[in-house]
Amino acid sequence: MPNECRLILKHADEPGYTPDIECYLRHGGYEVLKKALAIQPKTLPDGKTQSPQEQIRREVMASGLRGRGGAGFSCGLKWSFVDRKSGKPIYLICNADESEPGTFKDRQIIYKDPHQLIEGMIISCFANDVHLAYIYIRGEMPEGAKLLNKVLTEARTKHFLGKNILGSSYDLEIHVHRGAGAYICGEETGLIESLEGKRPYPRIKPPYFPAVLGLYMCPTIVNNVETLCAVKHIVAMGGAEYAKLGTPNNTGTRIVSISGHVKRPGYYEVEVGKVTIGELINDPAFGGGLRDGRKLKAVIPGGSSAKVFKAGEKFQIKGREVDMLDLPYDFDSLIAAGSMSGSSAIIVMDDSTDIVAALANIAEFYAHESCGQCTPCREGSLWMSKALHRLTHGEGRAQDADYLVKIADNIPGGRTICAFGEACSWPVQSFVAKFKDEFTAKGAADEERGVVNEAGPIASAH
Ligand SMILES: Cc1cc2nc3c(=O)[nH]c(=O)nc-3n(C[C@H](O)[C@H](O)[C@H](O)COP(=O)(O)O)c2cc1C
Ligand code: SF4
Repeated sequence: MPNECRLILKHADEPGYTPDIECYLRHGGYEVLKKALAIQPKTLPDGKTQSPQEQIRREVMASGLRGRGGAGFSCGLKWSFVDRKSGKPIYLICNADESEPGTFKDRQIIYKDPHQLIEGMIISCFANDVHLAYIYIRGEMPEGAKLLNKVLTEARTKHFLGKNILGSSYDLEIHVHRGAGAYICGEETGLIESLEGKRPYPRIKPPYFPAVLGLYMCPTIVNNVETLCAVKHIVAMGGAEYAKLGTPNNTGTRIVSISGHVKRPGYYEVEVGKVTIGELINDPAFGGGLRDGRKLKAVIPGGSSAKVFKAGEKFQIKGREVDMLDLPYDFDSLIAAGSMSGSSAIIVMDDSTDIVAALANIAEFYAHESCGQCTPCREGSLWMSKALHRLTHGEGRAQDADYLVKIADNIPGGRTICAFGEACSWPVQSFVAKFKDEFTAKGAADEERGVVNEAGPIASAH
């Protein structure tokens, strides 16, 4: 029987657990920071010395932790790319933008156990010789920003922040920065531009890899809220022990947001890969199954930009056929099935769903959020949204399905500066590929009624 494995959310929903520092300290808070600051340099068999910072970085590498923000990139590897020889300051930014539709996990930490994030950040900063760090929080979470500022003040008062932290001679300051409510501010280089006070135009990579040319053109680490909390647990239990949680190459725990047509929408922390998509949707410990009398139609497994799965779909994984519902919920299985776990947000759609309307909703979001720097993304996302608007307003055409795919196919693949190009194309490509008959039938019915605007696909919308 699968169940939650609460590591990061261990205390978050306990009765009487509050976000203030006294409560956090009563539950062992900041003990792992003390442990980290007390680590002594280690002499290796070859006579070389390993600094405490290096030792922590090695533990994080050994843990196999993969970033929880979306791409699932190895945290240890990302930290190893940081240019430590430039002589410039190294910055760390906590990405608390959490704007991928369907995702509501980071805010649980921020609202319910914010000191855990601060402790994870301080340890991560110490491990990477960072003395100034930022929490970039999405504009729509003003209460979260207020709370973070309050707990930072508490942490300063107790000497967990500031000069000479706990007498260790390590200095660190953390500031909260509020976004103004744009999805693209979650993309790490757009975020960095925004933090610098500019429009959040993502930067082109190469050369602007944050680890080398990040904030103020200095080496910068950008990590998700949940990733930074996981670091605290890795230092507490050791990298090898952490790696025993989850499955090989998909270690640790992950907080999954489940929304849509399930009886128990919510957030659930599970060992990565130990629970299937079907269990997350149907098990009483998680989503609790579909609403009475309904059948499953589709599942978006990793936030709105992930490619949709159709109920009953089968995949060849490691030489065997696997039903979509039997896919282990981990990074690698979902990629092998042609989608991704992304921000670990599962959106469930039952047979009452108008799939064309659902895609129109998603496409409108992406058209609105494109930053506009790249022509294929700026124009393509808008054209797709317009065509879908037309299809959902009785003005479609039978060939709109092909038209949508043609646009979507011409946005990603190295034609854009950032991965938003993929993010806006994948839903369109996958929804149309898997539910083409619904798009065609809608357009054909409109044509039959003779309501098509002769001006053509683009000019006829809105
Ligand atoms: C369009 C776009 C939006 C993104 N939004 C977020 C976000 O809201 N939160 C987040 O942590 N990462 C987001 N990311 C991923 C970040 O660019 C970055 O990879 C991540 O913060 C790195 O942290 P991690 O390695 O701990 O996952 C987004 C990426 C793209 C392309
Ligand atoms: S892909 Fe889209 S969001 Fe990303 S930089 Fe280009 S226009 Fe902006």
